[in-house]
Amino acid sequence: MDYWITSDLHYGVAEDGDRAVEALARHVCAHPADALLVGGDIACSVTSLARCLALFADFPGAKLAVPGNHDVWLEHEEGDSWALHEQQVPDLFLRAGFHPLHLEPRTVGEVAFVGSMGWYDYSFRDDIGIELDWYEKKTLPGGHGPLWNDARYARFGCSDPELTEQLVTRLAAQLASVPPALEIVALIHHVATKDLLVHPRSIVPLRWRFANAFLGSERFAELLGAAPAVRQIFCGHIHREKSVLRGAQRYTSIGGSYRHKQLVRATSRQIVETRSFTG
Ligand SMILES: [Fe+2]
Repeated sequence: MDYWITSDLHYGVAEDGDRAVEALARHVCAHPADALLVGGDIACSVTSLARCLALFADFPGAKLAVPGNHDVWLEHEEGDSWALHEQQVPDLFLRAGFHPLHLEPRTVGEVAFVGSMGWYDYSFRDDIGIELDWYEKKTLPGGHGPLWNDARYARFGCSDPELTEQLVTRLAAQLASVPPALEIVALIHHVATKDLLVHPRSIVPLRWRFANAFLGSERFAELLGAAPAVRQIFCGHIHREKSVLRGAQRYTSIGGSYRHKQLVRATSRQIVETRSFTG
């Protein structure tokens, strides 16, 4: 049993990036696997999201997806990102034949897939002398506006730590629902452990050490680390290809950029192949 996995397709953002996505989709459709996983930040709008997912219409295996933060950004002043996460995005997934993995796990062969958009609770924060309220505003001290655009476009009606707590609780329920005999692969858009970021931290410029607080939460690794049936964890969001072992579990950030796209082929226990596509 093996599967393709990609993330951060950002369809509709750049013409060359879109050509890369289309080449990636042609490759996936021409080289079937048991499943295809798409790890969020799929497109720049609801219209582009539907167009992007349609590129995979001919893929014959199971299709699973989670949203990323860009997929729950609001295009207008009104609206609710939670409604996008719960209803509008899953509806688009289902219409395109994709299972909304952030709402419910899915078993394919002998592997159970679990998923989450993930979020951040500032647990990735470095000790750089910046008070918590600046993180809550996502604004550097002295800055003229938010450094991180979730502050402008994502509105959940709760704090970032509260949203993270809710999503960790949901992922825990997904893990608890998997029959004990199955191996588990997790797909989380945000980063599940700070180990996937740049180290040593001292080489990262201060501005980015601040912004790195919005990349993910260690809560996900703490949860997954206590579930030995979980073999591999894939993340998107950071556009940086990296793989680390924590105990027997492999954490991989898929990588890619607005212009080039990454595709990974994996089994429950290992990565078999990595490919890059450019437009
Ligand atoms: Fe993202």
